[in-house]
Amino acid sequence: MKKQEIDIVKEGTTKCFVFKNKDSSKGPGSKEGKPFYNPSMELNRDLSIVVNQWFINKCKKPVRLLDGLAATGIRGLRFANEINGEFDVTINDWNEQAFFLIKKNLELNKLEKVIASNKNLNVLLSEKKYDYIDIDPFGSPAPFIDSAVRSVYNNGIIACTSTDTATLCGIYPNVCFRRYGARPFHSFVMHETGLRVLLGFICREASKHDKSMEPIISYSTDHYFRVYVRIRNGKRYANESMENFSVISPKEFFPSNKEQDIGPLWRGKLHNKTTVKEIRTLLFKKKLNTKNSLWKLLSIFEEEANAPPFFYTTDNFASRLKMATPKMNKIFEKLKSKGYSVVRTHFSPTGFKTNASLGEITKVFKEDVV
Ligand SMILES: C[S@@+](CC[C@H](N)C(=O)[O-])C[C@H]1O[C@@H](n2cnc3c(N)ncnc32)[C@H](O)[C@@H]1O
Repeated sequence: MKKQEIDIVKEGTTKCFVFKNKDSSKGPGSKEGKPFYNPSMELNRDLSIVVNQWFINKCKKPVRLLDGLAATGIRGLRFANEINGEFDVTINDWNEQAFFLIKKNLELNKLEKVIASNKNLNVLLSEKKYDYIDIDPFGSPAPFIDSAVRSVYNNGIIACTSTDTATLCGIYPNVCFRRYGARPFHSFVMHETGLRVLLGFICREASKHDKSMEPIISYSTDHYFRVYVRIRNGKRYANESMENFSVISPKEFFPSNKEQDIGPLWRGKLHNKTTVKEIRTLLFKKKLNTKNSLWKLLSIFEEEANAPPFFYTTDNFASRLKMATPKMNKIFEKLKSKGYSVVRTHFSPTGFKTNASLGEITKVFKEDVV
């Protein structure tokens, strides 16, 4: 192996050796070369710490966690170092340099009960079973979902990141169809349709094995999607979750002239409200640099958890009606005074989810300028 310059970074309470990288400060990273450390994913990793603390607290048996695509191993190291309870962690990467770094990082943090593994993730998942499987690839997680669904224990969790946002948001519709078997929708609502295409794909993969899928938390940011889904064994549960899997007609949900159906995608809830609340309360028991941002994010997830699918934005509505964008709180007040529910959404700062019809919302917007 070539000699490489090494740095130490710290996330939470965990130290980690990383290879020095001239351009490693931002972005999704490179598929080639040395194991990649991406500091802009700290919030993503912080959330996985509290989700797993919640999961381990709930489980009545020792839990097996897998960081399946680990690179430096930072996520799995943090599981071992920052979570309390009865569990073990496997940290896996097929890259030889990553494997070397993972072992160095285990020594650095003096961690026991951690297994370092150097396999193709799909092979490892065919050999062993886990309660929690984390899939954090460059690009699409699609090639790993079938193996993860087969490997995960009943009531376990699959967490995956997708930086395949351009595909899921509909910039490359043919690639989306090829990878996820679904038609995306490139529009103001593309982050939600993209996230739902990914969830729909996982639901479909699970149902092949008579398993169901329920999102605990699922969200989108500028450069990635992230989902935590619970997998449950049983034909009845699989049938129930497949009831949330279908194509949708754009006209049913959006002010749109698009004729072609979107999906199939997940039409069900994006988060489990009770679980999000429980996870949020654990934040203050941990030392996390992104605690405040996570608190805000989890509050919005809680708010939007039971809202109908899809959202509108005040700017989109106003520009369609050729009027100035009204204040969010005015629109909220008016919809509420008419008896509709309306909540914010994490997908857009000017977005809102409501059970009011397009016609009713249009009326409220028009009243606003009178
Ligand atoms: C985006 S990086 C992981 C980042 C890491 N989870 C973190 O939080 O910093 C993806 C890693 O997956 C590894 N990888 C890609 N395909 C793999 C496969 N089939 N099996 C095992 N590892 C794989 C790559 O070597 C790379 O280190």
